[in-house]
Amino acid sequence: MSPSVLHQPTRILAIDTSCDDTAAAVVCGRVVLSNVVASQTQLHKPYGGVYPTIAKIAHRQNWPRVVELALKRAQCQWSDLTAIAVTVGPGLAPALEVGIMAAKSLATEHHLPLIAINHVEAHAWSSQALTKPQNWFQLNSLEQQNVAKFGTVKFPVLAITVSGGHTQLLLIKAFGDYQILGQTLDDAAGECLDKVGRMLSLGYPAGPVVEQMARLGNPTKFKFPLPMTTHADFNLSYSGLKTHARDLITGLETQNQLDQQTTYDICASLQTGVFHHLTYKLIKLLDHWRITNKQPQLQAVWLGGGVAANSILRQTLRQTLKPFNLKLMVPFSHRLCGDNAAMIGLIGGLKFHHGLSQTQPDQLERQPRLALEITPIVSN
Ligand code: KG4
Ligand code: ZN
Repeated sequence: MSPSVLHQPTRILAIDTSCDDTAAAVVCGRVVLSNVVASQTQLHKPYGGVYPTIAKIAHRQNWPRVVELALKRAQCQWSDLTAIAVTVGPGLAPALEVGIMAAKSLATEHHLPLIAINHVEAHAWSSQALTKPQNWFQLNSLEQQNVAKFGTVKFPVLAITVSGGHTQLLLIKAFGDYQILGQTLDDAAGECLDKVGRMLSLGYPAGPVVEQMARLGNPTKFKFPLPMTTHADFNLSYSGLKTHARDLITGLETQNQLDQQTTYDICASLQTGVFHHLTYKLIKLLDHWRITNKQPQLQAVWLGGGVAANSILRQTLRQTLKPFNLKLMVPFSHRLCGDNAAMIGLIGGLKFHHGLSQTQPDQLERQPRLALEITPIVSN
């Protein structure tokens, strides 16, 4: 084998159709070569949430074009690819199915191995993806491999995933060595923002609109309860905040129609409540580690998921982590916070590295409720 072949960096074509975005990307190690997302937001807007059958039809229509564009932007031929990574769960079953079928047929046609990916694991790692350097296509294989290598990632880390489907505190000791420290027992943080946003007729998804409106509002105008303060664990719960918001809005509406400023104030107060619950549990966890002397020498805290795009959340977390001397790492672009395939390709590359890429097409199945390993811990 010639040295250039030996040092050929991996190129993973990744596909994600777990919810309402049809996404494809090409990733080389940690470096994102392309990241294409066809959003279905406009199609689902009239329903105030994702309509699974519509998502499935749109994924079917979109995926060939999205994959083609991902390859083109990465300046990749089929023969340059190492493997195909695809999300198998968790997510909407009819939506997942389309991406899996696409990956299977492409892998068979182009004789490529398949890699099954957990969508939540990918969100947790998304801050570790790197943007490609401007001179990427001028670099030789060895230089590309050097930029893209995973060896620069330091463990252990605490990964915080805040999305529309998940809110989770995960200890990552190494790739594949995970411990869930806490997670929501009901609604996810993004889901709470979306549901309250719907009560305020802010459209779908409401999270980004809540952020915009919150800028013009008073975050202390309405007091939201802090959930689960008496619980010894680090789990979260957002359904109470949603109910509180409903009662607040109904109460205000019986007095008067909501004016614009009141809507801004509700958004600002709600956002504060949602993020305060998360930082409260985070501080509780870090204090628990400090008091019991069990702090796993954390190298950083990673943030991922759609809500990670929120600038107030980032600011709040940075302030929370400062006294603990911990650095917050966030995805390099907002396109890596919401659903995307670049994060899927990142995990695909890691799995390939670890020899976990030999899934046969007939073994690849959708797993809508796919979970990471759970080992709950409790504070004193
Ligand atoms: O990760 P994601 O795209 O999908 C899931 O895997 O759930 O997350 C979508 C969630 C939605 O709830 C959306 O409202 C929220 O992320 N979101 C935001 C922002 N951008 C997206 N929430 C607050 N502020 C934002 N800027
Ligand atoms: Zn997601």
